Amino acid sequence: MSRVFHPSPGDGSWRRPPDRSHTERPGIVAGYLAPHPPHLAYAENPPQNEPRSQGGWETLRWAYQDLQQRIKALRPDVLVVHAPHWITMVGHHVNCVPRPRGISVEPIFPHLLRYRYDFRTDVELAEAIADHSSDAGLVTRKLKVDGVRVDYATITALHLLNPDWDIPVVSLSANNNPYYYSSSSLEQMEVLGEATRKAIEATGRRAVVAGSNSLSHLHWDREPALPEDMAAEHPYNHHQYEWDMRLLELIRTGRTRELRAFIPEHIDATESETKAGSLTWMLSALGWPEGIGEVLAYGTVIGTGNAVAAWEPV
Ligand SMILES: [Fe+2]
Repeated sequence: MSRVFHPSPGDGSWRRPPDRSHTERPGIVAGYLAPHPPHLAYAENPPQNEPRSQGGWETLRWAYQDLQQRIKALRPDVLVVHAPHWITMVGHHVNCVPRPRGISVEPIFPHLLRYRYDFRTDVELAEAIADHSSDAGLVTRKLKVDGVRVDYATITALHLLNPDWDIPVVSLSANNNPYYYSSSSLEQMEVLGEATRKAIEATGRRAVVAGSNSLSHLHWDREPALPEDMAAEHPYNHHQYEWDMRLLELIRTGRTRELRAFIPEHIDATESETKAGSLTWMLSALGWPEGIGEVLAYGTVIGTGNAVAAWEPV
């Protein structure tokens, strides 16, 4: 694993942010870049996941533990997540099923993630996001079919952000397939982000928005005998690593306008999973805030670059 950042082990109290919840203002209270490699949930050994692990990828998992504390301090009404692996070839879909339940299996790594989920959807907000998106000109659908399996990326990101599952959720599909299409459809993600913000404000919710994608996305085609063998974990190549560092430098120095223009370049250079639009959607929902942005951790998973990052408007 590439250990670029080295948080000290401990109870994390030195990193705990101030309690900003006293204002209780509605709107988006934070945006997080929340990658979803199944390895991270596997390494946590939660009771919902069948496979057992010996750990691994700690740097990223410690950053998620930091986010969990931040989210509890913010006391949001809802977590809104966009992830790349609920792929809808026609239109942007919003999960409006009140209580999704089932087992989510990672199709490439079923030996790592077979996770039993059971959570609540904020249906009023979900429908409002679909309506605002439709009004903004996007092809939009409300998923209301009970029993449809929730994709592993959404489940993994939500578990890592809030393993207690005690905050309602809105889940959005990925209309722009990260593997086949160009990055041109990022324009639609900008519209989807603005529609998400308007729906949150119209319904008076305090919301955390989470864009769930990796960065550089070339990866190994062989797995070590022990999947969590950290001796085998490192960037796919130096080129990918360098481009990830360029993107993270823009985040941590708050240069969001430059980041907006850089994302398509980064996609072309690294096959970045930001191609699915999750990061663009999240930052558009936040209004591309200039001057804020934190990188909590960077690490690789099967060679792909992954960062946990935060934008918390004061
Ligand atoms: Fe992914």
